[in-house]
Amino acid sequence: MTNKQLPPKGHSDKGWSHESDQTACLVIHPHLKNDRGNLRSPQARLEECVGLALAIHVDVVHSEVVNIARPKPATLFGQGVVEAIATTIGRVDKHKNDWHEDDIGLAIVDASLTPIQQRNLEKAWNCKVIDRTGLILEIFGERARTSEGSLQVELAALTYQRSRLVRSWTHLERQRGGLGFIGGPGESQIEIDRRLIDERIVRLKKDLTDVKRTRELHRKARRNTPYPIVALVGYTNAGKSTLFNHLTEAKVFAEDLLFATLDPTMRSIKLPSGRDVIMSDTVGFISELPHELVASFHATLEEVHEADVILHVRDVHHPDSEAQRQDVLDVLKTLGVDNKLDDCLIEVYNKADLLDGEELEILQNRVDRSNGRVAMVSAITGQGCDALLNDINTLLSARFQSFELDIPYSDGQLLSWLYDHGEVSNRVEGKNHFTISVRMNDMNVARFQQKYPHFFEIEEETEEETSPTGWSPT
Ligand code: GTP
Repeated sequence: MTNKQLPPKGHSDKGWSHESDQTACLVIHPHLKNDRGNLRSPQARLEECVGLALAIHVDVVHSEVVNIARPKPATLFGQGVVEAIATTIGRVDKHKNDWHEDDIGLAIVDASLTPIQQRNLEKAWNCKVIDRTGLILEIFGERARTSEGSLQVELAALTYQRSRLVRSWTHLERQRGGLGFIGGPGESQIEIDRRLIDERIVRLKKDLTDVKRTRELHRKARRNTPYPIVALVGYTNAGKSTLFNHLTEAKVFAEDLLFATLDPTMRSIKLPSGRDVIMSDTVGFISELPHELVASFHATLEEVHEADVILHVRDVHHPDSEAQRQDVLDVLKTLGVDNKLDDCLIEVYNKADLLDGEELEILQNRVDRSNGRVAMVSAITGQGCDALLNDINTLLSARFQSFELDIPYSDGQLLSWLYDHGEVSNRVEGKNHFTISVRMNDMNVARFQQKYPHFFEIEEETEEETSPTGWSPT
């Protein structure tokens, strides 16, 4: 075993303070010796898991990395390690009056455990054991704030639970000496549980379809607004909500807990240039997301597809900042938005207030050379936020096409369509028509072209003034 971290009396490492109403908890990161593909060190991964544990309000009293050569089917860890951890738990409990009031009630294993492994470890350690999926499900469950988020999480949790029921059932049958799959009290109870879960899953899926339909309607309505969408994405705890709050001066739940945001939140703001945009905060990304959660996680990121600008918020002070950046880009790729990144992405180096000296200088150089595609901010102090808003404006201006159009007074419908779908910056009244200056994003230009094709036909120049329906890109 490595990296033992039993806190001494009264110890409060990283501000993990014990409060008596919190469950005392142990966190173990099993490190497979041949796992060389991961960019993060086992210690960093342990720390991340401890951070996740704090998000469910437990009191982490001990954490360690455990090296394993080969995972054991029955307990994941070898017998020696299982016993050593049991001793650690026993030691904590035995000395509880010395430095801790509670017994360890929970062990979090930062890996995927089979139901059998989970149950065997619970027996050996005499406490509840959850794996990484269980932990993240707990967090998602606590954090879901919209009806779609809650439904998605419940669906993921039930699917996870159901797979455990089935597997533990076959295991029980085998333990009983091959009594067969029919009959027996254990079986019927599990059958009932399974049916209840199935019924609930069917209901949830139906509710989700309804919620999604409503959401699609909202999205359509939003698509029809002329405002560009700026979506904030980033690794969990990068500071998205804090930046979102600073930029929108709204109060969105932001605290030093991972996954403080599970559902997208939107607000409209005015850029210093006068341009209105919609800011959208999204759920935090995380490496090795359990597969049960991928669908619900992706569903909460649908806004990114609609975004005109994607702000990739990064905690540049974090030691794993580069690995986190790669994780986020990988997820964006999975979402199918990688083709947008060249045109739409601004990387935001956040937590700049925590940097100094050479580090700050290197990053500042990158910002200077980025042509507005990298910004450095402190979401806490607000430093750099104005420059970021200007970068957003510049990027949008490059992506919006401007037109000057002559609209006959008789065509009120077209005029109102342009107000609904574009940014009208100027309107001059002429003899028979308005001349308006309007900017539209690519999507609305395409719609405009489809709806009013005559504006796009090349007209014969006459000696007289331009046709009332003439247009000229500016
Ligand atoms: P998730 O909801 O987990 O995805 O997190 P998030 O990315 O929305 O992070 P959040 O805004 O909740 O911030 C996480 C922590 O970082 C909080 O404790 C913030 O106070 C802190 N934080 C955010 N921005 C800054 C910053 O610029 N400087 C410093 N020093 N801390 C910051």
